[in-house]
Amino acid sequence: MKLNIALLAGDGIGPEVIDQAVKVCNAIAKKFNHEINWTSALTGACAIDAVGEPYPDSTHEVCMAADAILFGAIGDPKYDNDPKAPVRPEQGLLKMRKKLGLFANVRPTFTFPSLIDNSPLKRERIEGTDLIILRELTGGIYFGERGRKDNGNTAFDTCTYTRDEIIRLAKLGFEMAMKRSKKLCCVDKANVLESSRLWRETVQDMEKDYPEVTVSYEFVDAVAMRLVQWPSSYDVMITENLFGDILTDEASVISGSMGLMPSASIGLHTSLFEPIHGSYPQAAGKDIANPLATVLSAAMMFEDAFGLKEEAELIRAVVNKSLEEGIVTEDIAGKNKAYKTSEVGDYLSSRIN
Ligand code: IPM
Ligand code: MN
Repeated sequence: MKLNIALLAGDGIGPEVIDQAVKVCNAIAKKFNHEINWTSALTGACAIDAVGEPYPDSTHEVCMAADAILFGAIGDPKYDNDPKAPVRPEQGLLKMRKKLGLFANVRPTFTFPSLIDNSPLKRERIEGTDLIILRELTGGIYFGERGRKDNGNTAFDTCTYTRDEIIRLAKLGFEMAMKRSKKLCCVDKANVLESSRLWRETVQDMEKDYPEVTVSYEFVDAVAMRLVQWPSSYDVMITENLFGDILTDEASVISGSMGLMPSASIGLHTSLFEPIHGSYPQAAGKDIANPLATVLSAAMMFEDAFGLKEEAELIRAVVNKSLEEGIVTEDIAGKNKAYKTSEVGDYLSSRIN
């Protein structure tokens, strides 16, 4: 199969972790006789430095022409403490999501048997956790009307949702639930927010189309609590943009390392696959960042974008092997020897043959 993949390495540790995923993908392509055509493009702070714009049109064209996008991370500390910066790397991410119509962010959380004691949560609480948070990604308060009034002394951000935006996200949630344990949790704040009441009403209306799925409706504050108390009680969860942003970071702690969790963003055009961690600027260029989340994102890409399940399973198997054999970076090595980012990538690709 011919695979046209846009490669957006981005900032910080992005290029280093992406390099390892590329090694792994190329090994997979060789083994299974695929031909990968990689096209690199700039996004984030590096794009601002190069062309003054974090998601340039040229990058958008590369993304639109590709079958899938593999993304590293964006962000640079030089913008973090400057609320007046005219352009910011994160704007590139939001623009990319909007222009590519990436309305759903799929973030799985699962545990690795060999790493279960790395989690700050007790073993008996997290064992068996395997959940997916489906976060709406192109609506809500992130994209609503915002501004200042009263000579700048009052600020507002508005959360707006249309029924159609909720339906298309919830549909993915119901379909995912059908393929898993037929349990869906709609997370909202319907006791206070009108937009949440529309979410709840819309999802309730859809229940009749999926009679096999059991839907629960829970308030986001209670979910934040239960997610660390009994994560294994959840399966597929759907929620709006900001709640999803917060809950997915919370969920990432369960597995024991943010450096392990992959994600996919899907929608109207090309799907994008990325680790959930950020650009980790303190580690940039040091060859110490954990590449596994990016490698597992590549596995999601093979399965979800190309329907190549065997390839995805093999990637997951070699990742498990590296965890079991302790060929891991310092964030999860504990007292044992820590390997370099590039050494982990070499190990993984050499096991695919
Ligand atoms: C994420 C990030 C982004 C978000 C930022 C960088 C704009 O936190 O992908 O979760 O808030 O969506
Ligand atoms: Mn976030």
